[in-house]
Amino acid sequence: MKRIKFIDFRREYNFLKDKIHPAIDKIITRGNFILGEEVQKFESAFSHFCNTRYAVGVNSGTDALFLALRASGIEKGDEVIVPAFTYAATVLAVVYTGAKPVFCDVDLETYSLSPQDVITKITSRTKAIIPVHLYGHPAPMPELLRIARDRKLTVIEDCAQAHGARWRNSNGKWQVVGSGGDLGCFSFYPTKNLGCYGDGGIVVTDNKKLYRSLLMLRDYGRRSKYQHTIIGYNSRLDTVQAGILGVKLKYLNSWNKRRRELATIYNSYLKDIPEVVIPREQKGYYHVYHLYPLRVKYKRDELYNYLNTRGIQCLIHYPIPCHLQPAFKYLGYKRGDLPNSEKLAREVLSLPLYPFITKDEIEYICLTVKRFFRH
Ligand SMILES: Cc1ncc(COP(=O)(O)O)c(C=O)c1O
Repeated sequence: MKRIKFIDFRREYNFLKDKIHPAIDKIITRGNFILGEEVQKFESAFSHFCNTRYAVGVNSGTDALFLALRASGIEKGDEVIVPAFTYAATVLAVVYTGAKPVFCDVDLETYSLSPQDVITKITSRTKAIIPVHLYGHPAPMPELLRIARDRKLTVIEDCAQAHGARWRNSNGKWQVVGSGGDLGCFSFYPTKNLGCYGDGGIVVTDNKKLYRSLLMLRDYGRRSKYQHTIIGYNSRLDTVQAGILGVKLKYLNSWNKRRRELATIYNSYLKDIPEVVIPREQKGYYHVYHLYPLRVKYKRDELYNYLNTRGIQCLIHYPIPCHLQPAFKYLGYKRGDLPNSEKLAREVLSLPLYPFITKDEIEYICLTVKRFFRH
């Protein structure tokens, strides 16, 4: 039986190892493991990539969100609007600050925050909105920014799944995710479009005050070696991870392009199956296909089992919307409160998609999906 992993990391490693090993060797030989020069070099390269003035490397995407919220002054008594359909880390970061996450429903076309629903969730306590660019498709930024600007709300973008995704702004210019809101937060978890060999994350911003605050927050709240100005954390991007990311960043645009080509192949095979809805790129948006999620209107769990037992590893992102997670029960939501999020949790199924999967493998996956539906 053919076996197709969701991601085969060895393929990327084999492609890169001649470049990765010297980068790591250099850091180990020098022994500058904490905030070594590779961190600053990578921060500078990544802020350039995002077209922002500043970037601060931190130790995960979750911390990127948490420190961005802290830098924005979010605290107990505040409310922060988050999509109910996202990875739990978006919500956890809000909880860590003491603020209350307020769940908002998502749009069935973009799978991201619905601007209409955001408006209904805003109260006098709302301080920030976190649009999540889920699966690699940007959230509807023009509408969300307009809503936030009118009400003076901070916008913290969760770009964990969308490095390099873009949307067209009101001047008709392409804008990279992370650069439109007040702060953009990225994860470098290994499976991401830009991933390191462990945990890592980064916050980008144009705001010097937020930048300065983030530099302290990630480094024990200190201004100099033994002068602690604020309550900070130990949340720095490792030098070794920054060195690896510096090598990989050079490939990010071409890998995103490859993901788009591969998604087109999936689309061409699956577009006519009535039981499934393929992911769609909206006009004015550049999707980077972190994932390739189908919406399976009929027998999703059966298809999931059918593919996995035939050697095709597929996953569900995500089977439980955040408002129904036991950890967030204290917030008082119930089934039926956020219908689109609940519908997506019942229907989505991610098929393998990464830059090193082959066209033959995708063809095999599509034929197996078709066989399941007897097409
Ligand atoms: C949408 C989203 N937000 C936040 C995170 C958290 O990132 P990390 O795993 O690096 O903490 C992830 C990734 O897992 C994610 O997918």
